[in-house]
Amino acid sequence: MTDRYAVIGNPVAHSRSPSIHARFAKQTGEDLEYGRLLVPLDGFVEAVERFRDAGGRGLNVTLPFKPEAFAWAARRSERAQVAGAVNTLRFDREGAWGDNTDGAGLVRDLEGRLELALAGRSVLILGAGGATRGVLGPLLDAGVARLTIANRTPGRAIELVDEFLRTSASAAAAADRLRGCGFDDAGDGHDLVVNATSAGLAGDRLPIADALLAGAVLAYDMFYAARETAFVAQALAAGCRRACDGLGMLVEQAAESFLVWRGVRPLTAPVYEALRAELAAEAG
Ligand code: ATR
Repeated sequence: MTDRYAVIGNPVAHSRSPSIHARFAKQTGEDLEYGRLLVPLDGFVEAVERFRDAGGRGLNVTLPFKPEAFAWAARRSERAQVAGAVNTLRFDREGAWGDNTDGAGLVRDLEGRLELALAGRSVLILGAGGATRGVLGPLLDAGVARLTIANRTPGRAIELVDEFLRTSASAAAAADRLRGCGFDDAGDGHDLVVNATSAGLAGDRLPIADALLAGAVLAYDMFYAARETAFVAQALAAGCRRACDGLGMLVEQAAESFLVWRGVRPLTAPVYEALRAELAAEAG
């Protein structure tokens, strides 16, 4: 019987996940179908349980339900625990397994496709919302030397760091590598600058010094779009040599979820290329 999966969120209409997982299934020969579940903001748990009770095998969880999925999952991975959020649910006999593949997706895109070895690097993350929290653990595990979280509202970045350090002994061990601050105190000499703010959704420029971007080896936008994102444009204009959007992270986190569900890791490069071409065609 064909196994059923879906992405659950609000909104989900524009999610690329069904197209990514259809490609993974075809490539690996796994017998599955993958759809979209749009649910009302107060209807997450009911919709998940209905999907599971009807035989569904797993879900990707997207905005705004990742914290709710975390609270609902009966068992969670260590990386979900430190992220405080779940983006992947697998329905096992022992109960729902909650995982988070976002950070692993970012690290794999950086170290694989973009060939940026993270060990010993100084990394600056802009923003202190859920997108940032989800990637801290995997970036630290990859051996970054310094991880600075700078936010428009400095108190939120400081709070996020404190909260993160309290999640586990392994997180607490990273205290001397992790710092929260405002945009003006971000320091300099960062090798990698990652945008995890939602400013780009409104096309807003981030109020950060050009020097932060000019000196970086890579500027990475966790968001993606058919056209150049506002952050990629800002980084290149500031003099950064290399900037890219988060389409690769999207494909990599999907591959990690596929591995959690099926025990098979699909190849991501051809799927990334296909998606990039699809986006370009849509942009015209
Ligand atoms: P989530 O729901 O994922 O936790 P959020 O709370 O909306 O996301 O956080 C979005 C992030 O983008 C925050 O870091 C926010 O900064 P503030 O904490 O100061 O609000 C940041 N952000 C959104 N718009 C921004 C803008 N125009 N300039 C700078 N930062 C912005």
